[in-house]
Amino acid sequence: MGYSTNVYKKAADKLTLRRITAQREADERRKEIFRRLPRAEELEKGIASSGIKAARAVIGGGNVKEEMERLRDENLRMQSELRVLLRTNGYEEDVLEPRFVCKRCKDTGYVEENGRTFVCACLKQTLAECACEELNRSAPLSLSTFETFHTDYYSAQRGDNGIVPREHMEKVLKRCRSYAANFQPNAGGLLMCGATGLGKTHLSLAIANEVIRRGYGVIYVSAPSIIAQYEKRMRTWGETNELLDMVTDCDLLIIDDLGTEYKNQFSVSHIYNLINSRLLAHKPVIISTNLNMKELEQHYSNRLVSRLNGEVEKLNFLGKDIRIAKKRF
Ligand SMILES: Nc1ncnc2c1ncn2[C@@H]1O[C@H](COP(=O)(O)OP(=O)(O)OP(=O)(O)O)[C@@H](O)[C@H]1O
Ligand SMILES: [Mg+2]
Ligand SMILES: [Zn+2]
Repeated sequence: MGYSTNVYKKAADKLTLRRITAQREADERRKEIFRRLPRAEELEKGIASSGIKAARAVIGGGNVKEEMERLRDENLRMQSELRVLLRTNGYEEDVLEPRFVCKRCKDTGYVEENGRTFVCACLKQTLAECACEELNRSAPLSLSTFETFHTDYYSAQRGDNGIVPREHMEKVLKRCRSYAANFQPNAGGLLMCGATGLGKTHLSLAIANEVIRRGYGVIYVSAPSIIAQYEKRMRTWGETNELLDMVTDCDLLIIDDLGTEYKNQFSVSHIYNLINSRLLAHKPVIISTNLNMKELEQHYSNRLVSRLNGEVEKLNFLGKDIRIAKKRF
């Protein structure tokens, strides 16, 4: 679960809000009920004070056992009277208790089991939702899903290279689906190559959607934007740059539009170091580019290309620009 601090903070805030809301609503119900049924308030106070009375009995000495039994019976009688009183007045028996969204962790996000603390499923779910919201600010995540990816945009005619684009893209789609469904933090990487408008960004975001839904931390950056972040860090050295901390640590890094950044020694070396550090740590990266392997070698280095060749799976995108096809319909 490698999420940004912002995501953790947002998820924690959401749970706190749930907890406070449940508490406040319970307080309001309590006030209203005690106004209608003063006996209910007496009973609740009585139940709450039996613990104190029990402690006094122990300190006071005397026949402690007998006194404790009497207090316990009195407590149980009051509890039962309160339940009956509430029920006969049309309330649920637990109406005075806060109604937490998650009963398991009482909206704290953590559960204790056998003396150990675990992250509750509801916090995992909330983290994934917050990560989606954050990613959605930089990419059209909700629009780019496997369901909205259609292979009938690709030609069913066999090309000069002997390949039928539609059949080929059906295989690419299938591979991306299985990649997302089986994603693990040590999964291999993908290199999506092909001309503009063929669905590279669409499919990488579809993978992001699914991987986030499965509870992993995903960072999506374009090559120009990540270079801009490295430049910013040069100017503001010493300040924390969360995105740059996250790109090396997140479960899945997606680098879009590799090759469209302004190229100089600075950008080339930072791109190389970033990809190389992910590969060395066996952390997956998905790269999309309009460049072919030869151009990648010219722009970066054959060191990078040979690393990519050995460690990531190449997916070629074929066909005609779908942006144009979509405009026509
Ligand atoms: N197979 C598809 N089915 C439905 N929509 C698609 C498909 N492929 C691409 N699109 C849509 O077409 C537009 C362009 O696709 P996308 O941005 O994924 O292309 P790309 O390969 O990343 O292009 P570029 O190299 O210019 O970045 C997007 O709006 C995308 O949602
Ligand atoms: Mg793209
Ligand atoms: Zn929970």
